[in-house]
Amino acid sequence: MKPSAIYPGTFDPMTLGHLDIVRRASEVIDRLVVAVAETPRKQPWFSLEERMAMVAEATRDLPGVEITSFHGLLVDFARAQGIRALVRGLRAFSDFEYEFQMALSNRKLAPDIETIFLMTSDTFSYISSSVVKEITSLGGNTVDLVPPCVQVMLSEKHKGQNRGAVSS
Ligand code: COA
Repeated sequence: MKPSAIYPGTFDPMTLGHLDIVRRASEVIDRLVVAVAETPRKQPWFSLEERMAMVAEATRDLPGVEITSFHGLLVDFARAQGIRALVRGLRAFSDFEYEFQMALSNRKLAPDIETIFLMTSDTFSYISSSVVKEITSLGGNTVDLVPPCVQVMLSEKHKGQNRGAVSS
């Protein structure tokens, strides 16, 4: 069987850091399913459909990459897909505790599923979706932080926020 893996995330929004992980994972994995989670607890800026669209557009040139959404437990989704590997990116020590907890929880739930970590390229190690949203809210430029299609969606979001602020 060809190696397959799932790269799950909220992708609110997808950053160049996420894209770096997708690109590098897809070079060593034949079928990479990028799974966009609903994650209502994070109260995402972008709808699930918008996040799927941005991930699809940003990864359209990468062979073997599929985009889908999921809700519920990640390991249940992985089993339903017949996939036994999860990919996550690690940026810094600060990510480790959260990722370690998530990987061990997933292993407890599903010992047959492994989590594989890729170190984020140092160019992107400071980027996070929250930072991108904060810069956008304050009118800053995120061109070096996100793929071009996400940049466009962020500009629209910012214009919408300003319209809302003016009319309220
Ligand atoms: N480069 C740059 N930034 C990165 C990055 C990288 N390589 N990897 C992660 N990040 C950042 C993101 O920008 C994001 O920043 P933010 O915290 O400011 O929003 C943060 O790290 C994590 O976001 P993301 O990568 O989108 O994933 P997530 O942590 O939101 O995803 C799920 C978590 C969806 C995988 C997890 O909640 C899940 O599996 N949910 C399903 C329910 C479940 O099974 N629960 C039990 C498992 S514990």
